Amino acid sequence: MRILKKEGPNILVVASHTEEVRLGDYLMVTEKERSLVLQVIDENYLDVEGIEEEVAREEVLLASVQGMTEDPADVSSISKEIRDMRLLQCKARGSIEHGRHSPRIDWIPSRTTSKITRQNVNEILDSAGNRGHRKIKIGRSGRASSFSVTAEALDGRISIITGRKESGKSHLAKMMVRGLLEHGAYCIIFDLNDEYGTIGLRADGTKTSIADRLVVRKPARDLKFSLEGAGIRAITSLLLHSLEMPGTSMREFTRIWEGMELKKEVSMDSLGTYIQQWRCNEFVRDALYARYYTLSNSGLFTDSEQAFRLDDFFKSHPEGGALVISLSRVSPLNRKMTVELILSKLVELLEHRTIPPVFLLSEEAHLYLRETYWEDLITRMRHFGVFTTFVTNQPDAIKPEIYRQADNIFLYNFSNEADLDLVSRASMVDTDTVRSIVRTLPPRMCLVLGHAVNNLPVLVNVDEFDAPPSGITRRFFEPRAELTTLAR
Ligand SMILES: Nc1ncnc2c1ncn2[C@@H]1O[C@H](COP(=O)(O)OP(=O)(O)OP(=O)(O)O)[C@@H](O)[C@H]1O
Ligand SMILES: [Mg+2]
Repeated sequence: MRILKKEGPNILVVASHTEEVRLGDYLMVTEKERSLVLQVIDENYLDVEGIEEEVAREEVLLASVQGMTEDPADVSSISKEIRDMRLLQCKARGSIEHGRHSPRIDWIPSRTTSKITRQNVNEILDSAGNRGHRKIKIGRSGRASSFSVTAEALDGRISIITGRKESGKSHLAKMMVRGLLEHGAYCIIFDLNDEYGTIGLRADGTKTSIADRLVVRKPARDLKFSLEGAGIRAITSLLLHSLEMPGTSMREFTRIWEGMELKKEVSMDSLGTYIQQWRCNEFVRDALYARYYTLSNSGLFTDSEQAFRLDDFFKSHPEGGALVISLSRVSPLNRKMTVELILSKLVELLEHRTIPPVFLLSEEAHLYLRETYWEDLITRMRHFGVFTTFVTNQPDAIKPEIYRQADNIFLYNFSNEADLDLVSRASMVDTDTVRSIVRTLPPRMCLVLGHAVNNLPVLVNVDEFDAPPSGITRRFFEPRAELTTLAR
């Protein structure tokens, strides 16, 4: 391999076709004690002057002359070599000097004396800084080396997993949740397709070490709240944002709540009675009644002892745990109300330091997260200790501001130009890298960007995940074998 050209951070390297270099691989151009770190982001044929004519000429010759042709000087094999030479388009990713990585790329190694070698991704990442020691293995990068993200790299951070449908996003998210749980973390998962409930099990149905740390709840079925447990803050936030209660009615509601609290009878039952007997404007009463009926018809509230309390979930899982909130087949309004209640309660508990920080996993958040929560999640709530991972197959559902604030991005394939454009502009690495790598990514491979990889993009071949299949799209034309078992 040799350097051919350098234009700013873009470096062209020529390599023979026998040299095994793939997209995403890291190369080191070493000269004396310094090395320039390169990453291969695209490859082409080397176009030497007159090569097209030569290829054409050889084709004509081959077609017209039958049998062996004499080639005593073995010219054809050299010419073949040249035609197979590859041009590797690389990006300079920094330098390594005395074993330490720095982002400097303001020098040029010699074209003749420098040596180019392939480099193990993990070594490069380690030279760029400490990523933490709580490993979560997600796959392989390059030829053999296993690749892990660390729990520390997700801690206190905002992450995004995006890519087109069925590329493997939820698969990766499940691996990370299992990893976080193994390290004793707390997770809350908004699960749209009922697919996270089984991550405590192996494919053969046996339990993993984290099986007992998983709690799956479905709103209005086994996830019901009590007014008292939720508290005034979460309930007013729900009335204001999910049920659009006007300000005047809100003031009356707060008074009613205070009245109920004084008599220690905060419950759905007494709320109904209070509204009925409360002395106020008829319009206000109507507004209050309308919301009261929505609350009680939603099935999300109960006065019984069975009501779910978020703080109890933390208390009953001292070694960490995941609360999976199953949002499939839940009405859009109930989804919104549940998310509102959980998030506002979460922030309240975190503010009072009643609970430790939490990792939040949110699939297709635009379906249930109100506008103002996005900003809140990445700024205020992150400070209190809610570290969100957004998973989506619609990259435009996430605003550019969120991409800019994201610390880690896991990119799967996008072939659609508009999506590709958006993610390449929004992510923290140059557009060339994203465009050329992400466009050709096969399923199950993702490009990891950001803090988790010390800002050195890494192409990862994601491992299989040992869990029962879940989240599979239901189809009309089932495979034949299954139909016959059904018929039996
Ligand atoms: N690295 C992998 N190894 C083996 N199987 C995988 C891998 N990644 C994904 N799969 C499988 O591919 C299928 C699709 O993956 P997954 O459900 O994670 O995709 P998705 O991107 O979340 O799709 P959607 O956009 O529909 O939610 C699943 O059956 C999953 O088990
Ligand atoms: Mg999915």
